[in-house]
Amino acid sequence: MDTPIFSAEDISLAAHLLRKNEIVAFPTETVYGLGGRLFSQEAIQNIYRIKGRPSDNPLIVHISLLEDIERLAQEIPSEFYLLAEAFFPGPLTIVLKRRPEIPSMICAGLQSIAVRMPAHPLALELISQVGEPLVAPSANLSGRPSPTLVKHVLQDFQGKIAGVLDGGPCDVGIESTVVSLLEPQFPLLLRPGKISQEWIEKILNRKINPIEKKSDRSHLLASPGMRYRHYAPKAMIRLFFTSSDYSSYLSMTMSPKKKMLVSSQKSSRLFEPLEHFTLNNQTLYALFRQADEEDYEEIIVFCDEEISGNLALMNRLLKAAQA
Ligand code: TXA
Ligand code: MG
Repeated sequence: MDTPIFSAEDISLAAHLLRKNEIVAFPTETVYGLGGRLFSQEAIQNIYRIKGRPSDNPLIVHISLLEDIERLAQEIPSEFYLLAEAFFPGPLTIVLKRRPEIPSMICAGLQSIAVRMPAHPLALELISQVGEPLVAPSANLSGRPSPTLVKHVLQDFQGKIAGVLDGGPCDVGIESTVVSLLEPQFPLLLRPGKISQEWIEKILNRKINPIEKKSDRSHLLASPGMRYRHYAPKAMIRLFFTSSDYSSYLSMTMSPKKKMLVSSQKSSRLFEPLEHFTLNNQTLYALFRQADEEDYEEIIVFCDEEISGNLALMNRLLKAAQA
């Protein structure tokens, strides 16, 4: 059976299905999420199965009211409330110590829980109609680009989920920033996003550490998601940081491979008349999906200052290039 697409007027149908432990995808300001009831073992198992997600990679819990946090976490540090005041609802996920009654499956056995309050009005309304927080990983098959349109959700889950709530294109386009306050004295940036490290440091009035060093095993435990293959289109991704390297690659390469040329809107004018696709947070995942659909063999990216200075975007590009 085809997966129904619900519009905003049909949101109560989506909430009804979720209450019956079905899986329904919904829009957030970052990317679409694959939603299920937090306290439904059936829903959680189905999310892992349908997505093909390894069971040791935990899920983010989405709330619509700040007081919901007390049902999820314990020993909540004051830093949490500072960040919540500054950024909720918005694209920030915060890792805290979990309450013992939280199903351990969603936390992949960790003692922690990742929580965020999405800024999309339909997400907030859906959570409040269901009457409890919703777990939601990004609504893509494991290893595929995250979805920023209903079309992307259906490319991966047509006929496999009970519905998808249509909220139009996602404003932010890349997943939330993830910060851990498990040790409030040593906040850790687990995943970069639109909310930058500097911005968080300003609110907390202290430095925080990014987890980046590949050799450091502790980061694997702190952020299980970082261990997995990510956002990999079939095409090989090549990144160039100077226009001369970029142009000489284009002029010298003899390969007949089908190439997708990508740059910021500003830089694309430099390379006229060659046609370029515009890269920014909002177009990244759609371009990866288009490259797969149209059998591009190489994605060639000119990283000007606008792109290379966007750490969240560079993080996704580098992961995709390494995968
Ligand atoms: O923007 C987003 O965060 C989107 C939308 C749908 O809300 N969701 C999302 O979920 O990106 P997902 O499952 O694709 O990524 C969740 C990330 C993973 O890297 C996971 O390992 C990490 O958050 N995570 C979840 N729970 C964690 C925990 N208890 N401790 C550390 N990392 C955690
Ligand atoms: Mg994801």
